[in-house]
Amino acid sequence: MGFRQFPAGFTWGAATASYQIEGAFAEDGKGESIWDRFSHAPGHVAGGDTGDVACDHYHRYREDVAILAALGLNAYRFSVSWPRVFPSGTGYVNAAGLDFYERLVDELLAQGIAPHVTLYHWDLPQSLQDAGGWPARATTQAFAEYAGVVAQRLGDRVTHIATINEPYVVSDHGYRRGVHAPGATDPAAALSTAHHLLVAHGLALQAIRAAAPRVAAGIVLNLDALHPASGHLLDLEAAIVAHDQVNRWFLDPIVGRGYPEDGARAWGWTRGEVLDGDMALIASPIDFLGVNYYSHRYVRSPGLPPLEPAPGAGDERTGLGWAVYPAGLTEVLQFVTSRTGELPLYVTENGAAYDVDPRDPTADPDRVRFLRRHLEAALDAIEGGVPLRGYLAWSLLDNFEWALGYGPRFGLVHVDYATLERRVRDSGRFLGSVARSGRLPDTEGQLVPGGAAR
Ligand code: FCB
Repeated sequence: MGFRQFPAGFTWGAATASYQIEGAFAEDGKGESIWDRFSHAPGHVAGGDTGDVACDHYHRYREDVAILAALGLNAYRFSVSWPRVFPSGTGYVNAAGLDFYERLVDELLAQGIAPHVTLYHWDLPQSLQDAGGWPARATTQAFAEYAGVVAQRLGDRVTHIATINEPYVVSDHGYRRGVHAPGATDPAAALSTAHHLLVAHGLALQAIRAAAPRVAAGIVLNLDALHPASGHLLDLEAAIVAHDQVNRWFLDPIVGRGYPEDGARAWGWTRGEVLDGDMALIASPIDFLGVNYYSHRYVRSPGLPPLEPAPGAGDERTGLGWAVYPAGLTEVLQFVTSRTGELPLYVTENGAAYDVDPRDPTADPDRVRFLRRHLEAALDAIEGGVPLRGYLAWSLLDNFEWALGYGPRFGLVHVDYATLERRVRDSGRFLGSVARSGRLPDTEGQLVPGGAAR
């Protein structure tokens, strides 16, 4: 029986996003978002689910903050709903929307929990989408206006503000593959979206710095551990292209390296939307980078026949079929550090969905094991020199998993969607016990001694 120690002062938290938990989709002056529009139209979300009520966090945030406090977590990552603050995207500011986030932040601070704010976790005001959405450059100015207003109001109390969550997923799922709002399938629009998200990030950084000079400002990127499916040269090349398009596309411009060449060539991108000064703006200094890591993937060249058996066929998988690959977390953190050096990093999302045990929805041994192994991988990175400052699990609560609706459950806390009752899972207690002690046990068996924490 042994333990490994996390550095003193490590940040421990859980993450959520506005549309996935808040509900109250048309309350207190909130405007329509692209996710309201998308989920209300048939055929977009499994089971016709919507975020209209979700976890009703808008009304139950005090209970949720109390859960975070009871677990012993010292940070909470949440996102602000842009259309709650700017119902029509720009211009008129809805005071009631800002008031909600102020109440939430004050409640967190009263419990000693550091608020980590994300400004854009995918709920674009529908009116901005109607005016062209992210492919339209004007959306970047609207975002900067919004960032400045939120930073002005909350910047004296929140510790971290991230501009955008997972720009890759916004451009790819929202505009290239059409599986997320606004449901576009337009490769050119996806490329201009990607660039405009980074321009918006740069403009928002300026607005945040002006309104709240002491806040740590950054961005959150999703990274995958991508590996060639074989040693074949074409697989190596395919993996490099995928690595460019997923892992380097946003990171490299942010650190001043510009867009990666092979990925750009493979997309046939002509860079028409890149204006003078954009690349310098995008490379404005940040104070931290958030890394979301879930899984790894083998990349096979489209020109080669499928491999039998497919590589990774025997991998352990989560309930959603995502391969469980803890070493990939160490790998992506080391990769990011190769670009960012001493810049503080946070794991801003990591977690897994598993089927609920009908006898006891709070028993989640698979998730406990998933977390423990990924925390081990995080420690490996730290011990190898990665300046990792915190780990925030996805997610505090079971919630609306985008196009998959309420089926997948990622929560440290089980939510009964009929009653909205919250019940802490073993994984929540586990993460809390590691957070409180700073010590990671070698085996799951040590986590919940004698089952007492259940
Ligand atoms: C990430 C999203 C988050 C959640 C997890 C499972 O890509 O940022 O909102 O859906 O995946």
